Amino acid sequence: MSMSHGQTRAMESLLVLLSLGVLVQLAGCSPPPDPVICTHGTSNCTIANTYGSFTDRTICRAAKVTYPGTEQELFAAVAAVVSTKQKVKVATKHSHSIPKLACPGGDEGTLISTARLNRTVCIDVAKRLMTVESGMLLRDLIEAAAAAGLSLPHSPYWYGLTIGGMLATGAHGSSLWGKGGAVHEYVVGLRIVTPAPASQGFAVVRELGSDHPDLDAAKVSLGVPGVVSQVTLTMQPLFKRSVTMVQRDDSDMAEKVAVWGHLHEFGDMTWLPYQRMVIYRQDDRVDVSTPGNGLNDLLLFRASPTRRLVDARVAEERLQENGTDTARCTAAQQQAAAFEQRSYGFTNDGVSFTRYPVVGYQHRIQASGTCLSSPEDGLLTSCAWDPRIRGSFYYNSGFSVAVSKARAFVVDMQRLRDRNPDMFCAALDSKVGVVMRYVKASSAYLGKKEDSVDFDIVYYRSHTNGMPRVHADVVDEIEQMALRKYGGLPHWGKNWNFAFYGAITKYPKAHKFLKVKNKYDPDGLFSNEWTDQVLGINGTPNFIKKSCAIEGLCVCSSDLHCAPEQGYLCKPGKVYKKARVCSFITDY
Ligand SMILES: Cc1cc2nc3c(=O)[nH]c(=O)nc-3n(C[C@H](O)[C@H](O)[C@H](O)COP(=O)(O)OP(=O)(O)OC[C@H]3O[C@@H](n4cnc5c(N)ncnc54)[C@H](O)[C@@H]3O)c2cc1C
Ligand SMILES: *[C@@H]1O[C@H](CO)[C@@H](O)[C@H](O)[C@H]1NC(C)=O
Ligand SMILES: *[C@@H]1O[C@H](CO)[C@@H](O)[C@H](O)[C@H]1NC(C)=O
Ligand SMILES: *[C@@H]1O[C@H](CO)[C@@H](O)[C@H](O)[C@H]1NC(C)=O
Repeated sequence: MSMSHGQTRAMESLLVLLSLGVLVQLAGCSPPPDPVICTHGTSNCTIANTYGSFTDRTICRAAKVTYPGTEQELFAAVAAVVSTKQKVKVATKHSHSIPKLACPGGDEGTLISTARLNRTVCIDVAKRLMTVESGMLLRDLIEAAAAAGLSLPHSPYWYGLTIGGMLATGAHGSSLWGKGGAVHEYVVGLRIVTPAPASQGFAVVRELGSDHPDLDAAKVSLGVPGVVSQVTLTMQPLFKRSVTMVQRDDSDMAEKVAVWGHLHEFGDMTWLPYQRMVIYRQDDRVDVSTPGNGLNDLLLFRASPTRRLVDARVAEERLQENGTDTARCTAAQQQAAAFEQRSYGFTNDGVSFTRYPVVGYQHRIQASGTCLSSPEDGLLTSCAWDPRIRGSFYYNSGFSVAVSKARAFVVDMQRLRDRNPDMFCAALDSKVGVVMRYVKASSAYLGKKEDSVDFDIVYYRSHTNGMPRVHADVVDEIEQMALRKYGGLPHWGKNWNFAFYGAITKYPKAHKFLKVKNKYDPDGLFSNEWTDQVLGINGTPNFIKKSCAIEGLCVCSSDLHCAPEQGYLCKPGKVYKKARVCSFITDY
């Protein structure tokens, strides 16, 4: 099979991106932009997420923004909006959530940013407790904890998130051990500012201790009960981890997914379906005396020269629109090999990689994100997804399936793959694959109801509204299978509208959550159209219109929801026949 000149160049650009991002020692980086932009000081504002685009490709409006720097100022900000019954929402330093969680209701609401609420309040080393302000970045939390000889045992892998945002969306790393992989499991207290009657000054600070029943509503909350001011976490003494990435064929992946999280405290798995390969993260706690000063500086979260990011995007668009499966699969294979060759960003000493295992302190292994680091270099480099450049632009879906059902789900995905492996290159092998992480059952009302495997996928998003992705039906079918056939739950901070349709009915304690919400914020000032739709209060997260299924806003029920003029029609799934996916005519 010969490739056109364009395809060859496309592949070269992808490879150039990978190698340069690593080899060039970058002096600086342009940190991501502030998600809130106002035309008149702190008035007439817009808010976007870190990708510069919510699920429906819009950004939101707000009349103004405030930046409280203390709990008193936060209290005053809440009292001010409550006294005038304005809609209000919390913005964070970078606002990563993909759905419209950060938008105040309507267009004239107020944003309260936690960007200045970024300090450690206190650390009790003897009791292993750490209290921080809610806008603190995971990066700073990890660093402050380590300086005191403590660790947060589990966290997301990207450290640009804030503690308030992680709790609101149920963010997690990977573990079935102890309290499990989700950050909210380590919360033993928090202070939340909520609306109050005029007689009480329009706001109240509620302190919820570890045995307060409302803590189960406040620790995973979509931000609707009020503003979290401070969070107290139970920590562990700083420990070390030993990480080995093991690449194996996927023949026993279905059996492995059911046990891997029990075998390794920080274990995860990444599946590359076309390549029939699984990358097992064999990751365990080791004694602090074990030699090693390893570092996890994940390639994907490093700063890249923006020129390269732009070139890689052009190449990716060309492969999507005019490439062949063969070209896409070759590019995907070469990329996976390049990641492996560069040990995904792990080094044994912070400089070079010699061998596995990589042994290092928890704070150097648990998360990364060096593209966040200053100094500003005028956009010569940036995070790959920075919306100010025309670089990486993608969808990110995350959904969990009970561990007890994960084996059957994986078998179904493999059956789908076996029907036509080449189709998986465009969506899955070409990005990071299917990442599987473990999250334990939670007492949080909006947490997981069973021990679960979270499946995370990143896939191409066009800049053009309604433009189909090549082989879009593969991901569509996998998602519907997980959510409908296997009762999966969508990650609150990721996904497209359709994934949230009916999601709340799968939470047996949702009514308890709503009771606390109504008690804390009876007028729904902290709620917006999106949270009302998702929580089943008003409306539906599905957005039915032309091409809605192409955009992830609905599940198709008619060809018009796909792109019939471009040959994409609404068809049943191939393995999960009840799925309705947008298939290209000749693929069906
Ligand atoms: C590159 C990248 C990597 C990621 N990696 C992971 C991962 O490994 N694991 C994982 O689970 N998720 C991951 N995510 C998703 C992420 O967890 C969620 O989007 C996230 O939790 C958002 O955090 P944030 O601080 O940006 O909050 P935002 O998106 O700004 O806020 C989320 C919601 O919380 C509300 N909120 C924020 N702070 C407060 C507060 N103090 N009081 C009340 N409400 C508040 C906001 O109003 C909003 O409704 C990743 C996202 C990106 C972009
Ligand atoms: C408010 O901001 C928008 C852009 O977000 C701008 O078009 C408009 O002119 C601004 N309005 C005023 C009154 O400045
Ligand atoms: C906290 O925020 C302030 C104001 O935005 C900033 O100057 C300071 O550097 C931040 N602190 C940390 C540890 O990032
Ligand atoms: C794909 O090919 C068409 C026709 O040659 C061209 O118009 C279009 O720009 C190409 N798309 C990309 C992304 O290169």
